Amino acid sequence: MSDETKTEGTVSEAPAASAPAKAGDDELRVGVFVCDCGTNIAATVDCPSVTEYAAGLGDVVFAEEGKWICSVDYLNRIQEAVKEQNLNRAVVACCTPRTHEKLFKNTVHAAGMNPYQLEFVSIREQCSWVHKKDKEVATAKAKDLVKMGVAKARLLEEGDEIRLPVKTDCLIIGGGAAGMTAALAAADQGFMVHLVEKSPQLGGLLTQVDTIAPEGAKADVFVAHLVDSVVGRDNIEVLTNTQVSALEGYIGNYKVTVDRMGQTAAFDASTIIVATGMRELDATGHYGYGSGPDVLTQLELEGRLKTGEPLGAKNVVIVQCVRSRNGERGCCHIGCTVALKNALEIKHRDPEANVYLLYKDLITVKDEYAHMKEALAEGITTVRFSDARLPEFVRGADGAAEVKVFDVLLGQELTLPADMVVLSVGFEGDETVTGLRGLLKVSASDDGFFTESHIKLGPLDFASTGVYLAGSARSPKPLKDVREEALGAAMRASIPMAKGFVEAEGIVAKVDLTECSSCAKCWKECPFGAIEEVDKKPHIIEALCKGCGLCAADCPKECIQIVHYSDDQIAAQIAAALEEDPGDKIIAFVCHWCALGAVDIAGVGRAEYPPNARIVRVMCSARVAQKYVIDCFDRGAGGVLVAGCEFPTCHYITGNYKCSDRLVKLRKKMERKGYDTSKLWEVWLSASMGPKWVATMKEMTEALGMVPACKG
Ligand code: FES
Repeated sequence: MSDETKTEGTVSEAPAASAPAKAGDDELRVGVFVCDCGTNIAATVDCPSVTEYAAGLGDVVFAEEGKWICSVDYLNRIQEAVKEQNLNRAVVACCTPRTHEKLFKNTVHAAGMNPYQLEFVSIREQCSWVHKKDKEVATAKAKDLVKMGVAKARLLEEGDEIRLPVKTDCLIIGGGAAGMTAALAAADQGFMVHLVEKSPQLGGLLTQVDTIAPEGAKADVFVAHLVDSVVGRDNIEVLTNTQVSALEGYIGNYKVTVDRMGQTAAFDASTIIVATGMRELDATGHYGYGSGPDVLTQLELEGRLKTGEPLGAKNVVIVQCVRSRNGERGCCHIGCTVALKNALEIKHRDPEANVYLLYKDLITVKDEYAHMKEALAEGITTVRFSDARLPEFVRGADGAAEVKVFDVLLGQELTLPADMVVLSVGFEGDETVTGLRGLLKVSASDDGFFTESHIKLGPLDFASTGVYLAGSARSPKPLKDVREEALGAAMRASIPMAKGFVEAEGIVAKVDLTECSSCAKCWKECPFGAIEEVDKKPHIIEALCKGCGLCAADCPKECIQIVHYSDDQIAAQIAAALEEDPGDKIIAFVCHWCALGAVDIAGVGRAEYPPNARIVRVMCSARVAQKYVIDCFDRGAGGVLVAGCEFPTCHYITGNYKCSDRLVKLRKKMERKGYDTSKLWEVWLSASMGPKWVATMKEMTEALGMVPACKG
């Protein structure tokens, strides 16, 4: 049901709601809003009882139950209550913050309350939908969660969105197909583009290619058309023979220094698109590569084809998956398409040539499949080999080459004469990636491909706001995909430039330098470069800070706090949860992104699981300081669970890895101090892994011998 069509439900006035009063400066006035969610919550959780319980909690001056509290009518009701009751803190107990937190924050904000002083409690996904079999247990857990919410809300500080001005100039690094396509798309919108290319000419890898797979269009023609378009634009500055040598700042305010054949130049940019492309891996030592000119890579074959001269080879053996799909790295994505295209090209140029295509799997989609059928019709011989028995290159005493291959379909070994051996070699990122990743403060794989902020949620974004990614700099892909990504990255960069500003959430680190010992840990570790060193002390650049909490959790002097996730707020939640029957409870520190997503999916799936967990939400598992876990055990917790994003993905780049490392150290510390480490668990989840969350709950409660019917 949409917000517009929902109607306000029956409203139960909280029995102990105080009369309207004027809030003094320091007076806490907490309002609690409990949602029935129709029958989604109310059929299992005794909402009137939860509301009455909330009304009796300290500093709660108003508590009310609503049938649909996200309905337009009830949102108005919340605003009335904020104004009439002079509320300065609010707790909403309803569905999941992942979908509705912003709505409620905006609602209280419109009524004059600071939105950062609202706390969200999930009694649908964490109670009614997953403990349907026992209303008493679900209600007790809902009360605990509300108590934890109120405990935190009392301590919530004010926060502000951070707005940064953004101008209209964009730096694009890489002048290949992706860079030029992105440059034209940005320039078409009137933005100024600085297109930086390290080589003497634009065009990138395509300048070495004869024809473009799968269509077979001439690469030179395509590149010439793009180059003409780019150089003819007044608002695109093309800087060839140029490399970025220094970069400082953040979105809206980058100071770029470039080196152009020994000359240094500087300019400002507001956004950055990285389109550095890729290169073939070195094939030396594989299938005779390097032993003579008759063994070459696909890219070298493209160069030969481009000359238009006869290849002079009657027997051509193409070997697929060289240095890819080998345990070291995965599929190169374009090898099959390119190999089929070139096998056909060789055959078309010399119909008498024997072309053998040696493959593990030939993977084609759409039009590429037509090429495969054509290749078979043209008499190209395909031979399937397996990882267990790779082809073998042999060069005889007379210098002639042959390739031995065990055909897994025929079940026999073949010896193929080879006047030419063509290797479909995997790819790696450009050689400039190592330097650029440091300048841009972004991450890249061991193969030199840049890593997007999130494969599904931010495939063209880096974790650093204002820096975007396109084309083969991310992974090998066909030209069509390269161009689509380039357009996408240009649009991503255009949004803040068109708006003229960017807004960042106010969940950021705050530092108190009183106890700071200048250990440098925070500014060295921050994955976003959001902490700079000023006079040997940390200074937070709030515009860059994402609020992951890594710095705060690891600061040995506890100088850093995170707005909305401060030490005292988290400690208050822990204390509230463990006030009664702590031994029956598991404190689960759950990251807001994938781990909470998995919890929500378990709820959506109505999966029943033991009710022992009391979730303390953190933005990233990196926020979970060792002292929180120790605090839980000191208060008698039956168990502690840390749940974060499945490796390698973390919404804060490496937060889950840092957390995992920290837990290793913590277990050693716990052993030294006599704590039972078997009670400390961790689980790493993708957002779809509801079943894994459920299984973890079951395994953990069973292993720790907990009472399943935890009454709260
Ligand atoms: Fe989930 Fe970092 S965001 S572990």
